[in-house]
Amino acid sequence: MEVRIQTTDDGSQTLFVPQMDEHYHSVKGALTESLHIFIRTGLNESKATEPRVLEVGFGTGLNAFLTLAEAEKGRTVHFTSLEKYPLPHDIIEKMEYTRFVDSSLVPYYKAIHQAPWNTWHQVTPHFHLRKMETDLTPLVIKEKYDVIYFDAFAPEKQPEMWTPEIIGKIYDCLTPNGIFVTYCAKGVIRRMLQSAGFTVERLPGPPGGKREILRGIK
Ligand SMILES: C[S@@+](CC[C@H](N)C(=O)[O-])C[C@H]1O[C@@H](n2cnc3c(N)ncnc32)[C@H](O)[C@@H]1O
Repeated sequence: MEVRIQTTDDGSQTLFVPQMDEHYHSVKGALTESLHIFIRTGLNESKATEPRVLEVGFGTGLNAFLTLAEAEKGRTVHFTSLEKYPLPHDIIEKMEYTRFVDSSLVPYYKAIHQAPWNTWHQVTPHFHLRKMETDLTPLVIKEKYDVIYFDAFAPEKQPEMWTPEIIGKIYDCLTPNGIFVTYCAKGVIRRMLQSAGFTVERLPGPPGGKREILRGIK
């Protein structure tokens, strides 16, 4: 799959997939979007002592890297991320996300990508990572999670990721009071989350970006 690097409005990069006419992040600001939706609205709202996070769509590793940065403030995170199509190394090497973090964290973007697939790996004192090269659609999820970062491509581009079956499976693997966050605010997805059992909130989107995002609480 061909991908092209593109700079978004906050100066951070994303990838464009011409074949799908789809981006990996918001073109209004990749970093701003990830921090707002997944870190502040998702991770930071979890009451878990050591949150277990499940990400759907590892992609560039931006969400993983920002989660590591948050974990290094002192709360350990166990981060599992699913990816069907791992990106080639030459693309990852060109991503410049380390420009936006404290210099002490710079080596960890590479470390996240060098971590082995399909096994747990401790990247820093507070960040445990398990990247799974797998397809979410047939996957049976046995473990429980406190937070879900649902970062699949948009429903109109990848409808098979946004079905009642998938959302039900995601609901089932959350702990009570577990948090589901996504950038998608479509009514049909909100109703799907409610039907699965979530209490759903429509929350403000990232500054300069989408008007609304969704958070579901189990
Ligand atoms: C919007 S991008 C995720 C961006 C990513 N979270 C980041 O920080 O760069 C969606 C990701 O989902 C992955 N994906 C697509 N279909 C999938 C599937 N069936 N199972 C798991 N991952 C899938 C894509 O390859 C892509 O990396």
